Amino acid sequence: MTSVFSDNLFQGKTAFFAGATSGIGLAIAQRFAALGAEVALFGRSREKLEAALASFSTRAVGATGDVRDYASIQSALAAAHEQLGPLDFLFCAAAGNFPAPALGMSANGFKAVVDIDLLGTFNTCRAAHAYLRKPGAVVVTIGANHSQIAYPMQAHVCAAKAGVEMLTRVLAMEWGPDGIRVLGITPGPIDGTEGMRRLAPTPEARRAVCDAVPLRRMGTTADVAELAAFLCSPGASYLTGAMYACDGGSGLAGPRFTESL
Ligand code: COA
Repeated sequence: MTSVFSDNLFQGKTAFFAGATSGIGLAIAQRFAALGAEVALFGRSREKLEAALASFSTRAVGATGDVRDYASIQSALAAAHEQLGPLDFLFCAAAGNFPAPALGMSANGFKAVVDIDLLGTFNTCRAAHAYLRKPGAVVVTIGANHSQIAYPMQAHVCAAKAGVEMLTRVLAMEWGPDGIRVLGITPGPIDGTEGMRRLAPTPEARRAVCDAVPLRRMGTTADVAELAAFLCSPGASYLTGAMYACDGGSGLAGPRFTESL
């Protein structure tokens, strides 16, 4: 992809990514590093964290933990602040998913996803506030069009992402006066992610996904990273409290692809 941004867009900036040892979060972190930012990664798996950190040629630090555990995300944010200084950008990219009907998931299965997506976003934002550069910081949550569309097999994600969207708006209201912008990205079907591996595991399911997207293709992690760069750029300085879709129009089309699950 040809980027519209100059290579030093984020020179001197710092960024913290929760849930960024793979997929969309990692791709955004890599893009921000390429644009000059120093980055901190946070994820559950030590092995994945080390592999992710090794992919950076610029300064990148990291810590392991679980966004569901307030103390672990708080200490990772404190460490990142110590190492990199005030945080300019915060990404809440940790997410969980598995396809199952409501009657096919236990209360604990529902809770696991709501806790990762919604409570994890709250924990990350709440713990980060003390370490964000004020004014000027940007907080980016990761939603999904599940917040607007009722997808069968996705009761947990629909409930969690609806919460993430509303949390994004409330934090934009509360933190706007501090000069912090809070907004979100709603990725559609993005190729090469754990989510797509789980939701469209067969060639037939992948085809059905693409057929349901007005642009007739899955997105790439680079598509999402480019939007993230814009949202954090000076060009977006009057944007806050809204979710921005990067989904090829799939949010317009509804849940046809889940019929194949
Ligand atoms: N169908 C039904 N229930 C399922 C399930 C499935 N496919 N997969 C997990 N669960 C249930 C478990 O049975 C468990 O419930 P129980 O205790 O009543 O048996 C509950 O979910 C929690 O599972 P567990 O594996 O202990 O939780 P975890 O915290 O280790 O993992 C998940 C959380 C379940 C969300 C896991 O899929 C995960 O770690 N996902 C992260 C990666 C990911 O999903 N990426 C895609 C993002 S779009």
